[in-house]
Amino acid sequence: MYARFARPLLFRLEAERAHHLALGGAALAGRLPGLTALIAGQLARPDPSLMQTLWGQRLSSPLGLAAGLDKNAEAVPVFTALGFGFVEVGTVTPRPQPGNPQPRLFRLPEDAALINRMGFNNAGADHMARALHGGRHAPVWVNLGKNKQTPNEQAAEDYLQSVRLLAAYADGFVINVSSPNTPGLRSLQAADELAELVGAVLSEVRARRPALPVLVKLSPDMQEADFAASVDAAAAAGVSGLIVSNTTLSREGLRGVRRAEAGGLSGRPLEARSTALIAQSYRLTAGKLPIVGVGGVSSAQDAYRKIRVGASLVELYTALIYAGPTLPARINAGLAGLLRRDGLTQVGEAVGADVRD
Ligand code: FNR
Repeated sequence: MYARFARPLLFRLEAERAHHLALGGAALAGRLPGLTALIAGQLARPDPSLMQTLWGQRLSSPLGLAAGLDKNAEAVPVFTALGFGFVEVGTVTPRPQPGNPQPRLFRLPEDAALINRMGFNNAGADHMARALHGGRHAPVWVNLGKNKQTPNEQAAEDYLQSVRLLAAYADGFVINVSSPNTPGLRSLQAADELAELVGAVLSEVRARRPALPVLVKLSPDMQEADFAASVDAAAAAGVSGLIVSNTTLSREGLRGVRRAEAGGLSGRPLEARSTALIAQSYRLTAGKLPIVGVGGVSSAQDAYRKIRVGASLVELYTALIYAGPTLPARINAGLAGLLRRDGLTQVGEAVGADVRD
C-alpha cells in the first residue's frame, strides 16, 4: 500500500515538506480518540519473545524509533502504536532554534539512503516538556544536544539545562555528541571531554531521577583507537548504555545524484559500518553495557544481525521513509521468526551470540 500509493505521492514533494506532512498526519492521528488504539490493535502486538527489561524498563520490542524524526515529541502515541518498543525524541536543545537553511534533507533512492544537515531545528526543551506531559505506552527517551550559539566550553550547561527541564517527563536521556551538523559538537566525544560531560549529566539526572538511564550516542567516523577511548571513557564515567551510531560523513560507494550534498548520511550505506562498531563496542565493554544498534536497519535480518553482534536494542529512521509505517510490525514479526528458527525463546538470549568466545 505505502510503496504503491503513499510513497510516490510523498516522494514527489521536496523531502522536508513530505516529512512535515507525514509527521503532521501522525500527530493528528494521535489526537483522534480511538485511532491509535485501532492502529495498535493491528500493528503493535509484538511476540512475547521480543520482550526485555532493561534499566527497570519493560520494552515490548527491541526495535525503537531513532532520534531526529520526532524532534519535538509530536507523535509519540502513533509511533508506539506502529509497534516500536520505545521512542527516542529530539535532538532537543535548551533554547528553540531554526536549524540550517533549507533545503537540508535529501533522498538518495538508489542507495536507500538520506543525507541531512538539519542542524537541530527544534522547539526547545520547554516545549518538549509540555509535549511529554501525560501517559504513554512505551518508554520515551530524550536525545539532548547543545544550541548552535553555545561555545563548546559551555556545552555541558546546555545539556544540564535540558535535563532540569525534562527529567520529570523523560524515561531516559541520550547525550548526543555525534551529529555532524553542529560545528564542533563531535569534538565533545573525545575521551576526556566525554568523561567530564557524562559525569556532569549523570549527577544532574541522579539528583532528580536516580533510575533514569543515560546513554551516549557515538559517531561512526572516529579512528578505531579514538572510538575505543571514547567507549572506555563513557563506560568508566558510569553511562547506562551506548547508541551506535549516528550518521556518517563518508560518501563511499554512493550512486544517488545528491551524494555530494553536505551533511550526515544514513540508511543502507551505513549498515555494515554501524554493525562492525556495535561488535567492537560489545567486545570493549565485555557485554556489560547495553548497546543500542542503529544504522541502515531495514529488515528483521538487519536488526537480528545487530542483536547477534551485541545490540540489546536496535533503532531505525531512514528505512521508515522508504518502507512506510508497517515496517516496525513486519520487523517484529520477522525477528520473532528468526528467534524461533534458532531455537531461542527470548531476544535477550541472542544478544552478542555471535561475538561471545
Ligand atoms: C537523524 N539522526 C539524528 N540523530 C540524533 O541523535 N539527533 C538528531 O537530531 C538526528 N536527526 C536526524 C535527522 C534525519 C533527517 C536523519 C535521517 C537522521 C540520526 C538517526 O537517529 C540515526 O542515528 C541515523 O539516521 C542512522 O539510522 P538509519 O536512519 O540508517 O536507520
